[in-house]
Amino acid sequence: MAERSTKPLLRVLDREAVWPPPIWLMRQAGRHLPEYREVRARAGSFMDLCYNPALAAEVTLQPVRRYGLDGAILFSDILVVPHALGQDVSVIEHQGPRLDPVTSLKDLDRLSPELSLDRLAPVFETLGRIKAELPPETALLGFCGAPWTVASYMIAGKGTPDQAPARVLAYRDPAFLTALIDRLVESSIRYLVAQIEAGAEAVQIFESFGSALPPALFDRLSLEPIGRVVRGVKAARPEARIIVFARGGGVHLPRFAAAGIGDALALDWTLDPALVLPTLPADMPTQGNLDPLALVAGGDDLDRGIDRILNAVRGRPHIFNLGHGVVPETPIPHVEHLIARVRGAGA
Ligand code: CP3
Repeated sequence: MAERSTKPLLRVLDREAVWPPPIWLMRQAGRHLPEYREVRARAGSFMDLCYNPALAAEVTLQPVRRYGLDGAILFSDILVVPHALGQDVSVIEHQGPRLDPVTSLKDLDRLSPELSLDRLAPVFETLGRIKAELPPETALLGFCGAPWTVASYMIAGKGTPDQAPARVLAYRDPAFLTALIDRLVESSIRYLVAQIEAGAEAVQIFESFGSALPPALFDRLSLEPIGRVVRGVKAARPEARIIVFARGGGVHLPRFAAAGIGDALALDWTLDPALVLPTLPADMPTQGNLDPLALVAGGDDLDRGIDRILNAVRGRPHIFNLGHGVVPETPIPHVEHLIARVRGAGA
């Protein structure tokens, strides 16, 4: 166990039921903020922004300054891992990520056997710069993608509905899938440990695409690899605090909890915390899970959505968040309203 923290978000990860719950938002840095769009336009490409420590630290801090959130999440992307393994990666305006597909053991052999921390040095420098400027009560979060989510991009070369290219290969070429997932498990451990050493006080693993997997593949490609990442990070840094976000994995959450996969489990917006929390240990920290589109809509539905979560998590260790990322259309006043309402939650 790490030294006791005074930061509300870290106290929750240490299983304390802090009230009102601390709050941060997935994708809190990004296109809904005019100050992000300004820096983004100056940075050149999206990947250039990820590898520019001064600008990446600046866009990380923008939402913290504007909203006074309890967490600052490193500005980067899950795709820096394939990039640091030697795969070509770019993010194209209005289209999303594009990678040079890796679809066989032969392709995999052309990538580095081990994650190059040198290529990721700007990310670690970014963490140091953020840490130096962070308000004392704000926690610094690092992250990576879960092996399956990252593998699905590496194989298809882009985002795909239901990750069909990677799923077909999981049946046709299980040896390749196993080797790719193994490479990503080792890379993710190395990357998260290095982030913690560079100043991240907690890390989140994003499994955005587990829900398209049938049960046997879910266990082999999602749950077990995430478990190996969590155990690997803790073997190197026993004090590590790890949040696991398995979007669409609601029915599996009790198994993540029972297997000790994560210090906290993030819930996506489709889950009713009133139904899910009783299936988890009472002191298991959770995070989430407002519908990002309720935040776009605002009004009474937003208030009802916030209050429903607050009522369900009262008395438990919970970090308020969305059930997925902030979308670009989100009005800033709605975010301000959300934070004020959560902070104003009466005992
Ligand atoms: O949460 C944060 O504020 C930290 C930054 C962050 C980004 N991507 C910045 C980003 C994080 C944590 C991610 C994770 C990520 N990236 C995930 C997992 C979480 C999720 O959303 O499910 C995934 C699947 C990706 C892959 C990715 N990167 C996509 C699909 C896109 C395009 C999305 C879009 O809206 O265009 C990216 C690019 C990206 N990553 C952007 C941002 C702010 C937008 C690019 C831009 O500003 O031009």
